[in-house]
Amino acid sequence: MTGMFQRRDGRLFAEEVALTDIAEAVGTPVYVNSANGMRQQARILQEAFAGQDVRICYAVKANHHLAVLRLFAGMGLGMDTVSGGEIARSIRAGCPPDRIVFAGIAKDDDEMRLGLQHGIYQFNVESVEELHRLDQVARAVGRRAPVALRVNPNVAAGGHDKISTGRKGDKFGVPLEDALEILTAADGMEGVEPVGLHCHIGSQIVELAPFETAYQRVIEAWRAIRAGGVALSRIDFGGGFGVRYQEPPRFRIPDYAAMVKRLTAGLGATVVLEPGRFLVAEQAVLLTRAIYLKQTADHRFLVLDAGMNTLIRPAMYGAWHDIEPVEGGRGDEAPTEVVGPICESSDFFARGRMLPRLEGGDLVAILQAGAYGSVMASDYNSRPGPAEVMVDGSQFDVITRRRPVELQFEDEVIPRWLG
Ligand code: LLP
Repeated sequence: MTGMFQRRDGRLFAEEVALTDIAEAVGTPVYVNSANGMRQQARILQEAFAGQDVRICYAVKANHHLAVLRLFAGMGLGMDTVSGGEIARSIRAGCPPDRIVFAGIAKDDDEMRLGLQHGIYQFNVESVEELHRLDQVARAVGRRAPVALRVNPNVAAGGHDKISTGRKGDKFGVPLEDALEILTAADGMEGVEPVGLHCHIGSQIVELAPFETAYQRVIEAWRAIRAGGVALSRIDFGGGFGVRYQEPPRFRIPDYAAMVKRLTAGLGATVVLEPGRFLVAEQAVLLTRAIYLKQTADHRFLVLDAGMNTLIRPAMYGAWHDIEPVEGGRGDEAPTEVVGPICESSDFFARGRMLPRLEGGDLVAILQAGAYGSVMASDYNSRPGPAEVMVDGSQFDVITRRRPVELQFEDEVIPRWLG
């Protein structure tokens, strides 16, 4: 066990609270977040970049809960958003708009207007088409949008093909070699103000080298664009810092910060970062209860009350999450198929995982569930989405109530003509 989730007398705790107490009070499945764990991660970044002109914007998509946003906004972080909904959440949670970056492959007019009306810090623009649209929308509302152009540095990086974004052929950004021409044109537009370049090469990156290669390319382009007369003042390097799932990342944040400092020395640029996973991934567990232990001739299936509807990462990316019994377990470890209750074979958490013998009723913790966990949950199979809890020292609160199926009915309409 690591960090804020530790065993005491054989029982698993989140900070000062026993997971058994949370399960009893709130039921399962439930995501259990550690507030102090999140604070600790934010401080690691803040300390590593102290003295550098760096703005850390939490990638809201990793866990968009208002309480999580409140916590980070309260520590001075900005927000990296990808939709009008995420902008609205950030503001609702108390983040000043001038700390909000708005990225994302396609922003519609309403979303652009929302960002403009609030006077957000920056729009990360992904295409020429979007640049023109933003110019039009901004002129219509009488504002000028600060724009960082997302470039594609053509670097392969990221923990999985599905979360790699910076290669030629990925849908994100514009080719680096087109940036000068696009930004020069942008400079003449009334509704946009080119302020920088943006890149984000992927997620769950565990080595420094791909970051460094990409950043060098972006900085080279940035210098050329400045030399060409466009007054850029910012570079947004995106997020993507890997965390420990099965293996720890092969670099530490202070090394990353030193690399950024070295590359950007003398540039006179404000650096924007968009970490999501790093801040939250290891700071939550998914607490779930076994429904059955199903033994076949050659397999042991542990069937949980959480499934791919609760945490989709193993089914979707083949992602590894550590799995631990909350209170030990009985007997020797044996390979176990850890699965959910959803009617699909892809509904699994782990195959052949070495676990002690557990039974129906036993509590199980699925670790590193804080990033892209609760936010990707669904009502599939009409199973109510998970509840969510935040622990802070010895106190905890339910931050998302379990949504009973009756509430799903409230949003659904049976057309009258069906009788
Ligand atoms: N900035 C941009 C433009 C992004 O697209 C992303 C993530 C981030 C920042 C934050 O990246 P992070 O620091 O969290 O790696 N659902 C997948 C991950 C998708 C990531 C999408 N973009 C998963 O569960 O692994």
